[in-house]
Amino acid sequence: MSTNNSKYVPGLEGIIGAQTAISMVDGANGRLIYQGYVIADLAQEMSFEEVAFLLWHGHLPARPELDSLALELAGSRALTDAATKALAALPIDTDPMDVLRSVVSIQGVEHRLSKPTIPLAIHATGSFPTILAMFHGRQLGLEPIKPRSDLGHAANYLYMLNGKESSPEIVRALNTYLVLLADHGMNASTFTARVIASTESDLTSSLVGAIGALKGPAHGGAPSAVIEQLEQIETANNAEPWMRDARKRGVRFMGFGHRVYRVYDPRAEILKEMCRRMNPTFFELASKVEEVALKILHEEHPERPQSTNVEFYSAGVLQAIGLPKEFFTPTFAVSRVAGWSAHVLEQAAHNRIIRPQSEYIGPEPRKPVPLAERG
Ligand SMILES: CC(C)(COP(=O)(O)OP(=O)(O)OC[C@H]1O[C@@H](n2cnc3c(N)ncnc32)[C@H](O)[C@@H]1OP(=O)(O)O)[C@@H](O)C(=O)NCCC(=O)NCCS
Repeated sequence: MSTNNSKYVPGLEGIIGAQTAISMVDGANGRLIYQGYVIADLAQEMSFEEVAFLLWHGHLPARPELDSLALELAGSRALTDAATKALAALPIDTDPMDVLRSVVSIQGVEHRLSKPTIPLAIHATGSFPTILAMFHGRQLGLEPIKPRSDLGHAANYLYMLNGKESSPEIVRALNTYLVLLADHGMNASTFTARVIASTESDLTSSLVGAIGALKGPAHGGAPSAVIEQLEQIETANNAEPWMRDARKRGVRFMGFGHRVYRVYDPRAEILKEMCRRMNPTFFELASKVEEVALKILHEEHPERPQSTNVEFYSAGVLQAIGLPKEFFTPTFAVSRVAGWSAHVLEQAAHNRIIRPQSEYIGPEPRKPVPLAERG
């Protein structure tokens, strides 16, 4: 019983939900572009801080702009008293994504009435690594490690997680990961952030909603599931029988398939190469699993090409960096907060409330029967 002529599209596939200058996902050609720059060029050369600046301002920073961003980010690393107390009160076995969602909410409570601004975006971005590292330290029973203002974003995150500085190679790898994941068009969490922003709500509410959306395995929750799937497969010889049986049980292969990409995800290509270098044991099994997964997916749907997505080799890279698998998706959020906040700012600057319609498929209008007559 539709009241207008538009057609319901499951998953809003192909529907344009916003105009954006922040990033473009070119699914047919396997290209990802941030503000006009191809991701492969940014991933090799840029720091996460430069890319975050690019997403927020639309241009790459000059040296003084970058220095001042670094200073502001470093100044945003400490948590508020309320956030520190909340973090200490959470049960020790809380999922780190739930920790992030809860503590980001409390950390941002003092800005609840503010309009989204770049300083608030920086404030949130600076705090994500601290929240996660402090909780990780608590889980290990360690004293909290104070953030270091002399370290860059990736290096400081690793320092707070591990209590010591990481090698330049590991810092570079995490930095590349953070650059690659910082934005990705109208993905589910970014859409969530923009919907919330469109009601003229605050930045924190957008970020909390986005974290909730990112958590699901169809979005950012996949990389730890990739590890679990590889653990179950165990050996390259077992890949094909395990995966054929899994499909019979309706199991989806974690780290494969994408709504937009019909060719190789450019981020996955870069991460695959990093994984080959940094995590050869993972790579040996993973590359066999990849070969079998692509073969089966092609057999099942030759008309709809499916490829390896960003999550598959992310898992191997994040493992080589030394992150526990529960921290893979939260580390995705450490990066994506830059994109989320850029989209919130863009939405706020050209706002119209996002309010689509639903197609009613319930009963025809009818009269309620009084309770006494319903038996
Ligand atoms: C990412 C994902 C949610 C995209 O969903 P989507 O846009 O609805 O996917 P598509 O419309 O392209 O799927 C079409 C068909 O391919 C199948 N398919 C897609 N991804 C698959 C996967 N990873 N394993 C097995 N089959 C898959 C679907 O089952 C569907 O077939 P069906 O209609 O017969 O059930 C989906 O591919 C998925 O769940 N992947 C696994 C989780 C993952 O890696 N998430 C991280 C995303 S970055």
